Amino acid sequence: MFILGLESSCDDCSAAVVEETASGPVLKSLVRRSQDALHGPFGGVVPELAAREHLLQVRGTIAEALEKAEIPLKQIDRIAVTQGPGLVGSLLTTFSASKAMAWRMNTPWVGVHHLLGHLNAARFAAPDLPFPALVLLVSGGHTHLYRAVDWTHLELLQKTRDDAAGEAFDKGARMLNLGYPGGPLVDACSQKAMKAAAPFTPPKFRDGKAAWSFSGLKTAMKLRIAAEPGLDRAGAEDPRVQGLCRSLQDAVSQWLLKPIPEWADTIGAKSLVVSGGVACNSKLRTEASALAQKLGLRLAIPEPKFCTDNGAMIAAAGAMLPVVEPPWAENADSGLALNPIGCPE
Ligand code: KG4
Ligand code: ZN
Repeated sequence: MFILGLESSCDDCSAAVVEETASGPVLKSLVRRSQDALHGPFGGVVPELAAREHLLQVRGTIAEALEKAEIPLKQIDRIAVTQGPGLVGSLLTTFSASKAMAWRMNTPWVGVHHLLGHLNAARFAAPDLPFPALVLLVSGGHTHLYRAVDWTHLELLQKTRDDAAGEAFDKGARMLNLGYPGGPLVDACSQKAMKAAAPFTPPKFRDGKAAWSFSGLKTAMKLRIAAEPGLDRAGAEDPRVQGLCRSLQDAVSQWLLKPIPEWADTIGAKSLVVSGGVACNSKLRTEASALAQKLGLRLAIPEPKFCTDNGAMIAAAGAMLPVVEPPWAENADSGLALNPIGCPE
């Protein structure tokens, strides 16, 4: 079965063709058009600009994915698209395109919850993942821990009390004038550091729980930068900037993994999935691998191209979900509205 997967929930316009086989999903093509240069000067995603750019990118992105896979649209057995959550103007682009194509070609269609997509990114390398799984989804907008009993159901265990982990990277990099998006830049900068700066103090909560909070980390970064005149203009080659980036990265990865052992025990986890853009982080990948080994959990961290938003993860999730079959008129109320599929936020 060939699936065309489309994703445009934020600032990446992506399409992929995936073949679902008896031994799991196989990638045939993946195209991702970035809008980093467009949003860079603003230091973050501007929703209206993103939506407009998606409109310009969507047709070329889909055509290129089909061309690279050497599979024409009429051979596509299923169209999967992100139906939320995300920026509404951005979502509407691939959502509308997917419905138009499905209608025109009489192709079965399925809407996919974005976070279910991030979970299913792990199917490419670990189609035989044992469940229940602990699923850590970390991106620019989400820092959520779920229990998954299979590839289609996520049950929320905990989430950040304020900012997402990716936000700490993006804003930290912005304060240091390193560029946008901040995660990869902080990662590269910390790898050059001879040593880390002083560690950041983890947040403490009255109930003593290993909960997440990243807004204090942004403030702490701001205070540290303000205390050293010129640091915000020193650039990625400055050892002080490198040391600070390393401390930031160490803090985020340590804090993210702190609640894992207790939850693994509580839910009787057999595996750990780490996905979302922040799962590209080198430190987090190394630490998660060491922790999974210590806890005896099978680890699945998708390769970086499947961690950031992409059409392949949506196709992989779409393969596992029930489709809306043509004829369309009979299915008018069966899920074509722009609603999440009921996965808890
Ligand atoms: O999943 P994603 O592509 O989009 C959202 O759904 O948000 O994640 C983007 C986030 C950004 O905050 C970006 O800075 C972060 O992922 N990111 C990283 C790395 N690569 C991307 N954070 C830390 N280290 C990285 N290597
Ligand atoms: Zn995402």
